[in-house]
Amino acid sequence: MGLRGDYTQAGADFSVEQDWSRYTAEEHALYRRLFDRQSKLVPRYACPEWIRAIAHLDAAREIPRFDQVSSKLRAATGWEIVAVPGLIPDAAFFTHLANRRFPVTVWLRRPDEFDYIVEPDVFHDFFGHVPLLFDRVYADHLHEYGKGGLKAMRLDAVKMLARLYWYTIEFGLMTTAQGVRAYGAGLLSSGGELAYCVDDPKPRRLPFDLERIMRTGYIIDRYQESYFVIDSFDQLMRETAPDFTPIYARIRSSQ
Ligand SMILES: [Fe+2]
Repeated sequence: MGLRGDYTQAGADFSVEQDWSRYTAEEHALYRRLFDRQSKLVPRYACPEWIRAIAHLDAAREIPRFDQVSSKLRAATGWEIVAVPGLIPDAAFFTHLANRRFPVTVWLRRPDEFDYIVEPDVFHDFFGHVPLLFDRVYADHLHEYGKGGLKAMRLDAVKMLARLYWYTIEFGLMTTAQGVRAYGAGLLSSGGELAYCVDDPKPRRLPFDLERIMRTGYIIDRYQESYFVIDSFDQLMRETAPDFTPIYARIRSSQ
């Protein structure tokens, strides 16, 4: 796939050993700096579910040991972390999610990528995604998404389904008693977009609309022009529960 990361040791499901002892002191220090910067932002910009979860993770000092976090996760929601070399093919990714395993990249970005990185690294994957797996509804939703992904592959509809992931799991906003807050991992792990998505008047903040999301393309290397806002993870769960087959067909026939 021409991606960063060492895929030579990966199993058929693309999992690898985290091999925690191989992280250098510099990498732990860089992770800590990333964590510290985001920690100043999240009290104001992250959704309460994420804030609640991170408090129990003890993940501020060094790159976390995935097996230790998996033990906590298994007890909380039946999820676990699986270490991967980087981005993995759709089939492997969806299969992991459909079995309540969240793939987390093992490598950390370089110091010159402190502010921005295109591919997900361990900081993005861990800080952005893992805390919300402790929320029962979110965790169940992501499980359903994984099953939906395998189905979308059979229906040749992954591109449409991926937009749902993008506008929710990666860049989703939520209305809370404190105002609009971020729950998308791409936002939570971003030094710049986390404040932008909540404070800046420029982007559109649209109410969650499944079909509109599936019709909305996205850009990966700039801040988003549109965000979709949910009321709660219950809403996300509820509105993504129906069979997407007729929606895929409708979108396809109108394009
Ligand atoms: Fe992500």
